[in-house]
Amino acid sequence: MEKHYDNLLIIYCSGTGNSKRVSEWIVQEAQSRGLKIHVSSYHQFNPDDIAGFKGKTLIGFFSATHGFNMPHSMLKFLFTFKLFKGSDVFIGNTRAGMKLSKLFLPGLSGIAMYFPALIMLIKGYKIKAMYPVDLPSNWISLHPGIRRKVVDSMVQHYEKLTKRFAAKVLSGKRVFLKSFVLLPLDILVAPIAIGYYFVGRFILAKTFIANYNCNNCGLCMEQCPTQSIILEHNRPYWKFTCESCMKCMNFCPERAIETAHSMVFLLLFVLIALVNPYLSAKVTDLVALLFSGSKLAFESLYFVVQWSVALVFFFLGYKLLHYLMRFPRINKIITFTTLTTWKFWRRYKIPSRVSANPHVSAHSDVSAHSQSV
Ligand SMILES: Cc1cc2nc3c(=O)[nH]c(=O)nc-3n(C[C@H](O)[C@H](O)[C@H](O)COP(=O)(O)O)c2cc1C
Ligand code: SF4
Ligand code: SF4
Repeated sequence: MEKHYDNLLIIYCSGTGNSKRVSEWIVQEAQSRGLKIHVSSYHQFNPDDIAGFKGKTLIGFFSATHGFNMPHSMLKFLFTFKLFKGSDVFIGNTRAGMKLSKLFLPGLSGIAMYFPALIMLIKGYKIKAMYPVDLPSNWISLHPGIRRKVVDSMVQHYEKLTKRFAAKVLSGKRVFLKSFVLLPLDILVAPIAIGYYFVGRFILAKTFIANYNCNNCGLCMEQCPTQSIILEHNRPYWKFTCESCMKCMNFCPERAIETAHSMVFLLLFVLIALVNPYLSAKVTDLVALLFSGSKLAFESLYFVVQWSVALVFFFLGYKLLHYLMRFPRINKIITFTTLTTWKFWRRYKIPSRVSANPHVSAHSDVSAHSQSV
């Protein structure tokens, strides 16, 4: 088989294992071609591990999609990445696919590939491919985990397609078709991606709680790729830096991590029904005073004020909730009013299969790791 590249470097960002597994499928294809390979999670990547790379390198960045964008920490990683300038790069993302009867339906990437591709292009890399993989959604705050049978069938289906993609990109071919199929919809949701990036993700970070089953084992804190869980008053507390990757929630051995649905609905209700009308009146007065009642000034100012207040409001609401969770009775009420606590609300795990490849170890579904193969 003709060898187009000498080395393959894949850096992934994965909460519940989808993007990590896809990276491993690509690695398996590369191994059959005798390339030197390194695959690592972005938060464990050490440039010393690829000191032995000589010759032509293909670099792949594979990431989960969060709010129609690449997660913030992975984008930050891309901004600072400067190894092998001028090399060929591919950008991949896993997104929330679905299966209806025998039909595999795609998720929606938004700007999750175009924006990182633009960053790398500006930095002087050559974009050889963009490729989405529609694995089951892991967004357990929104819906119960997908059934094992459906997960298995989707994983099998997309393993074949991903390996076909890998064969092409490793042969030096350009692969863009699948990434542009939903372009009109991707453009349509781009404003939501921006809203999610600047506001949504911070609000979501303040929706996680540890219920009365938590025994303070500390594993969620150890496993979090962004070090976003700390102990406050002897209970796990989620910081604004949490990216809602869902790793901790699916990993917790006590199934103690919940999305506080009742608290979210209550805060949203207070915000929309009581706080917003008050804000609107105040901003109207201010705009009348400063900008002679301009509609554009009102809308811009109201937008900024509304979302800034929402963030402060969720931060304070979360502090209060965290304080109240100390009391066992209140803890039980809050726990039983979350949807995630009920048995039917499954957690998400991509199946761990023993790889046929002896160099790619079988490992826990959600533990991120770095390995040279
Ligand atoms: C907070 C959050 C936001 C998400 N946003 C999107 C999205 O905008 N579009 C999409 O198709 N999937 C979305 N998903 C689904 C995940 O991207 C998808 O399940 C991905 O394969 C998870 O990869 P991982 O297991 O490597 O973390 C979202 C999931 C989470 C938790
Ligand atoms: S992993 Fe679960 S049980 Fe352990 S500290 Fe975190 S929430 Fe508590
Ligand atoms: S706190 Fe949990 S959901 Fe948030 S980034 Fe860390 S592991 Fe992911």
